[in-house]
Amino acid sequence: MRRPFVAGNWKLNLDLSAGRALVAGVAEKLPASLPIDVAVCPTSIYLFPMAKAISGTPIKLGGQNCWHESKGAFTGEVSAAMVKEAGCTYVILGHSERRHTIGPKDADGRIHAETDEMIAAKVRAAMSACLVPIVCIGETLEERDAGHTNEVLRRQINGSLAGVEAASGDSLVIAYEPVWAIGTGRTATPEQAQDAHQYIAALLMERFGSDVAGDIRIQYGGSVKPSNVVELMKCPDVDGALVGGASLKVDDFVGIIEGTIRAKGLD
Ligand code: 13P
Repeated sequence: MRRPFVAGNWKLNLDLSAGRALVAGVAEKLPASLPIDVAVCPTSIYLFPMAKAISGTPIKLGGQNCWHESKGAFTGEVSAAMVKEAGCTYVILGHSERRHTIGPKDADGRIHAETDEMIAAKVRAAMSACLVPIVCIGETLEERDAGHTNEVLRRQINGSLAGVEAASGDSLVIAYEPVWAIGTGRTATPEQAQDAHQYIAALLMERFGSDVAGDIRIQYGGSVKPSNVVELMKCPDVDGALVGGASLKVDDFVGIIEGTIRAKGLD
């Protein structure tokens, strides 16, 4: 079985003292060694101090983004090597909030900032820096309602992983985050999640072959809470969660970690 993986995407939340308090509170409630991987992903300016804060706990660190070039005239950007040097194991790439909500509108009135092509370049840069990218994909409500979910997932998997070579499945994580479930309180049903994850797993098989693809973890993200985590994690192709809002509170994040351990029969 793939080792389940729960990560908290803090987005633009928690100042340094609140981040430290959250990690200390979570670590206090967890055993020193866990049967799953757990990470927190603070904003980049806090990565160095948060690396210190998680030291001695089973919690690992992830960045929320990185640039695809290693150096140069890119004001405001942070390279994959810098994210790694700050103490990160993971980096979230291609989150829908970066694909959709930051940038100019195209001719159809849609806001596109990060394209699949840009995300693929970042994924390649992250892997060269020995970071494990958490590559986010997922359809909007319009795309789901129009019956285009699988087509979108295929386009995003192939596009966001273009030119990516994975020697082993543990060098890459995919997060299926249906855009309509992010921050809305409207979670995908276990059936919807399992269908999408099964399809993504099949796409990864096509892309990387069964040896590698069989070890790539696929997280679900979108309004995951302690109250819905167990039924989601019981789905065979759901290997963990990428959690936004509920990762900002000690009891909720611990509840999600414990629920995942229980659902996967690792307690
Ligand atoms: P919520 O858990 O707040 O819906 O956010 C999900 C998410 O975007 C994680 O990356």
